[in-house]
Amino acid sequence: STIRRFHFNVEWKKVTRLCHTKQLLTVNGQYPGPTVAVHEGDTVEIKVTNRIAHNTTIHWHGLRQYRTGWADGPAYITQCPIRSKQSYTYRFKVEDQRGTLLWHAHHSWQRASVYGAFIIYPRKPYPFSGSHIQSEIPIILGEWWNNDVDLVEKEMLKTGGGPNASDAYTINGLPGPLYPCSTKDTFTATVDAGKTYILRIINAALNSELFFAVSNHTLTVVEVDAVYTKPVETKAIMIAPGQTTTLLFRTNQLSGGEFLIAATPYVTSVFPFDNSTTVGFLRYTKPEKNSEITRRRRRLTAMSSTIVDALPNMLDTKFATRFSDNIKSLGSEEYPCKVPTKIDKRVITTISLNLQNCPLNQTCGGYDGKRYFASMNNVSFVRPPISILQSYYKKQSKGVFSLDFPENPPNRFDFTGVNPVSENMNTEFGTKLFEVEFGTRLEIVFQGTSFLNVENHPLHVHGHNFFVVGRGFGNFDPEKDPKRYNLVDPPERNTYAVPTGGWAAIRINADNPGVWFIHCHLEQHTSWGLAMGFIVKDGPLPSQTLLPPPHDLPQC
Ligand code: C2O
Repeated sequence: STIRRFHFNVEWKKVTRLCHTKQLLTVNGQYPGPTVAVHEGDTVEIKVTNRIAHNTTIHWHGLRQYRTGWADGPAYITQCPIRSKQSYTYRFKVEDQRGTLLWHAHHSWQRASVYGAFIIYPRKPYPFSGSHIQSEIPIILGEWWNNDVDLVEKEMLKTGGGPNASDAYTINGLPGPLYPCSTKDTFTATVDAGKTYILRIINAALNSELFFAVSNHTLTVVEVDAVYTKPVETKAIMIAPGQTTTLLFRTNQLSGGEFLIAATPYVTSVFPFDNSTTVGFLRYTKPEKNSEITRRRRRLTAMSSTIVDALPNMLDTKFATRFSDNIKSLGSEEYPCKVPTKIDKRVITTISLNLQNCPLNQTCGGYDGKRYFASMNNVSFVRPPISILQSYYKKQSKGVFSLDFPENPPNRFDFTGVNPVSENMNTEFGTKLFEVEFGTRLEIVFQGTSFLNVENHPLHVHGHNFFVVGRGFGNFDPEKDPKRYNLVDPPERNTYAVPTGGWAAIRINADNPGVWFIHCHLEQHTSWGLAMGFIVKDGPLPSQTLLPPPHDLPQC
């Protein structure tokens, strides 16, 4: 197979947005970072060189990493971080996956600016073709912080304070004209009228689910998280951090002109989120007279109202729910939906935020000596001193991790009922995982709880895609709810937003040997401990075992 080589230098670069100049962490000085574009079947080698004083790692989000868990990237889970002045080459094969994904740093909050698109071109023609694709436009949604993100993270961990809102949302690193001092930092793409384009939408934001729309145009979802879907026509999409959505886009406004593309947060409570909007432009190539810039400024007010029409209200849970329910696997002969119809094991876990006393070795400035943590089945995940994969491979788990993650919630609570605070049990701190045999058909039910139940939790699973077979509001009912599962064409994804005040059930064919992280892709919640992991043992065949670690694997 073809080998595609890339070199990533993780380095500082002076960048100005909103009239604030700061040193921004980048790859190769680019923000967003370089696009990795490969073909299905390729072997990828990405040498990452750390040119900063801090540790770093890069994660290939949604890439399956079959047998190559060493290349997955989450710090202290599958590798020790790459230290200052050191390099590590991520080697893996891209097999049986095609579409839009992303890569991002997976160490502290570095992914705030260290991210980029990961695009896999398919072996076979697109199943949705029908029309000729003119070209494609990657649209990476992110956040800009005037402050040093490291400081924001440190402050947040000390007090466990509420979300520190970023200063702007961005499209391909650009906030756009609705923010102060930002008109010149506006993303603009040029399109021809009467054509079909592919828009690759990536949510790389740290802490925000987003709505996205283009004024006066309908969008057609054809793929999510690098899996084809049945086509869905919609005026807007909801996209959680870590999710990707590929859209067909028809430039059918024959009058020509400029149209707004925009993203704004989707939240489930007004406090304390930033409800600003990032916009960019799609400009039809019909040449226009006069100074475009002046005209654009004048038209912005008028156009803002059309984008407001297209974008759902920031609290529109109805839209968000309907939208994600409409996403279904393509399930064609060529791309069958491989959802396990039977399971070998079900794990039910709460996902919750907790307000509690600090553990002894930490300082808490927060609330009466308490601060926020987050947990799964009341275990708040603690990052171990060396990588779990390494310690598992060497069969030396002592002091690193244990295999006693509780597979059911500690008690039968009314998780989402009206008296949440008394049920907000203090968490335990630990690095707890569970282990399954190779090929286990695994179901995990994520159960939200009502304490501080202010936002969805976009849960991300490493090393495997999963099928979202069910979701609902309130408490999961193990008797009734599984009877209503979609076992025909559930969406196959790597990240799914578990609804606030509700639950989601996912199924996994656990056939990738290694150690795999599961966590909330709101970075703040991961920092608070909303994470766990599972181990898939080697299979009986030589082709079903974890490959040995590469020679340059960083040591702790
Ligand atoms: Cu995109 Cu573990 O992350």
